[in-house]
Amino acid sequence: MKALISISTIIMLYVASGRLAREASPWASPSFSVDHCSDNLLGRRLLAGSCPHEPIDAVYTWVNGSDPEFRRQLSETLVHLGHPPANESVNDSRFADNEELRYSLRSLEQHAPWVRRIYLVTNGQVPAWLDLDNPRITVVRHEEIFPNKSHLPTFSSSAIESHLHRIKGLSEHFLFFNDDFFLGQPVVLEDFVSPRGEYLTFLWPSRGGAFNQSSAHSCSLTHVDRLFTQRYGPEERRAAAHVPLLLKRSIVAELQTTFAAEYEHTSAAHVRTNDYMQTSFTYSYFLRSERRRVSSGRLFEMFDTDRSGTLSERELLSVMSGLLGRSYSVRDARLLWDELRRCAAAGDTPTDSSTELNRSAVLGCTTATTRLSQRIGERRYRTRDGARSAWFYLKVPSRPQVVKRRFTEVLANPRRFICLNNNFSDSTAGRIKFVRDMLGQLLERLFPWPSQFELTSIRR
Ligand SMILES: *[C@@H]1O[C@H](CO)[C@@H](O)[C@H](O)[C@H]1NC(C)=O
Ligand SMILES: *[C@@H]1O[C@H](CO)[C@@H](O)[C@H](O)[C@H]1NC(C)=O
Ligand SMILES: *[C@@H]1O[C@H](CO)[C@@H](O)[C@H](O)[C@H]1NC(C)=O
Ligand SMILES: *[C@@H]1O[C@H](CO)[C@@H](O)[C@H](O)[C@H]1NC(C)=O
Ligand SMILES: *[C@@H]1O[C@H](CO)[C@@H](O)[C@H](O)[C@H]1NC(C)=O
Ligand SMILES: *[C@@H]1O[C@H](CO)[C@@H](O)[C@H](O)[C@H]1NC(C)=O
Ligand SMILES: *[C@@H]1O[C@H](CO)[C@@H](O)[C@H](O)[C@H]1NC(C)=O
Repeated sequence: MKALISISTIIMLYVASGRLAREASPWASPSFSVDHCSDNLLGRRLLAGSCPHEPIDAVYTWVNGSDPEFRRQLSETLVHLGHPPANESVNDSRFADNEELRYSLRSLEQHAPWVRRIYLVTNGQVPAWLDLDNPRITVVRHEEIFPNKSHLPTFSSSAIESHLHRIKGLSEHFLFFNDDFFLGQPVVLEDFVSPRGEYLTFLWPSRGGAFNQSSAHSCSLTHVDRLFTQRYGPEERRAAAHVPLLLKRSIVAELQTTFAAEYEHTSAAHVRTNDYMQTSFTYSYFLRSERRRVSSGRLFEMFDTDRSGTLSERELLSVMSGLLGRSYSVRDARLLWDELRRCAAAGDTPTDSSTELNRSAVLGCTTATTRLSQRIGERRYRTRDGARSAWFYLKVPSRPQVVKRRFTEVLANPRRFICLNNNFSDSTAGRIKFVRDMLGQLLERLFPWPSQFELTSIRR
């Protein structure tokens, strides 16, 4: 009897697994009703990989920094902008090519074969090993996606990234990869968006020093943080992790309309500045923070709790503390109250010294009410925190012992998302060569098989 029960349980599980049942059992009808894409019986990852979903493309940005023509253009641009033709930045490891892209594409082919097309965005350069005849590969030049050609040539990755959603023929949802991102394990769409439609945002577990360095990156995070505090209120924002980012074209467009001046500025910068819109941080927090507008009439009703037709400071304070909870401060509310009073006083009908504001006075203060509705409206997008265990990030140092130890970790337990960012600019040529060789060996061990996107050596 015991054996019978367990066998029937196994059969039930097996049948319930949907696709497996359809393939393996002759009696499963096409109208089989279990949705195997959200069914969790046999473990999410086993089934999710086989789920049909809308097509998803991948977009990479890439540069060959050892190309003499590229270096010449960069130096020219720097001089044109009044900077010295800084040797350092020409020699910068940000631009060095260790063939990461080749291995990243191998990892994509191996671990996310469901990705439809791959767009490679470059200044016109093409990796020597890339098979341009592969129908899944398209090289996109900056000219094709920059609406304002006077912003070119550009050496600012954020400027380029701000236009990726304009690629012709690109899927509505697409994955944005840097060339130093690798997939260390099978990846499914559910690693980016839950079956309930929640976008996963991958952030560092704490705020940390990312905001507190003198680098352009750090200054820009602080800049965006400040912009977001103005619009959405204060929050302990954390830097975004270095993982592939699932972007939606329409949401990117909406984000750029919302911060139009800042995006224009980002696009126009030919080299990195201290105030660009950093792609993953900005997008992740836009998803997490953007709210539906509340009409100012509705807003007034929410705040006029005693239905007197006027708003008092006491009402403002109590409603704000109720709605905004921890992100609220009494000082914020007082400032808002003062702003409303000043605004009402500046209107056609100056306020007297009374401590209340009527409906028409409040509705006339659109700057303040718009800001308020951004803080108390319903969330526009649903999001969830991506697991910290899903990703591994290493700013590859030039210290051989440290590199050895960290690389061994990667090999022993490759995470789903791996980023190996190099930091060689501060070291001697000998050490750089050593670490580069180690990096090459690690990538070769992780992803030994050439992908369909590489030319075979004969055709090369
Ligand atoms: C750049 O390098 C050249 C030699 O390669 C040197 O003469 C020049 O002083 C350097 N410029 C700066 C700003 O370091
Ligand atoms: C980068 O440019 C250099 C110099 O033009 C060239 O030798 C090398 O093959 C290029 N690298 C790739 C991956 O195309
Ligand atoms: C930045 O540094 C200052 C002083 O070093 C410190 O007080 C502050 O908490 C730091 N902020 C963050 C976000 O780490
Ligand atoms: C293109 O960019 C330049 C430089 O930022 C700016 O002066 C110009 O107004 C822009 N053109 C358009 C059509 O937006
Ligand atoms: C609103 O208040 C202002 C004074 O602050 C007053 O002049 C105006 O008539 C009031 N409007 C209504 C509809 O009560
Ligand atoms: C690069 O490495 C040096 C020391 O080797 C370190 O001081 C520096 O902070 C590193 N740069 C980054 C951006 O991590
Ligand atoms: C760039 O770096 C390499 C090795 O780190 C060095 O040999 C070379 O002189 C540097 N080039 C310039 C222009 O500084």
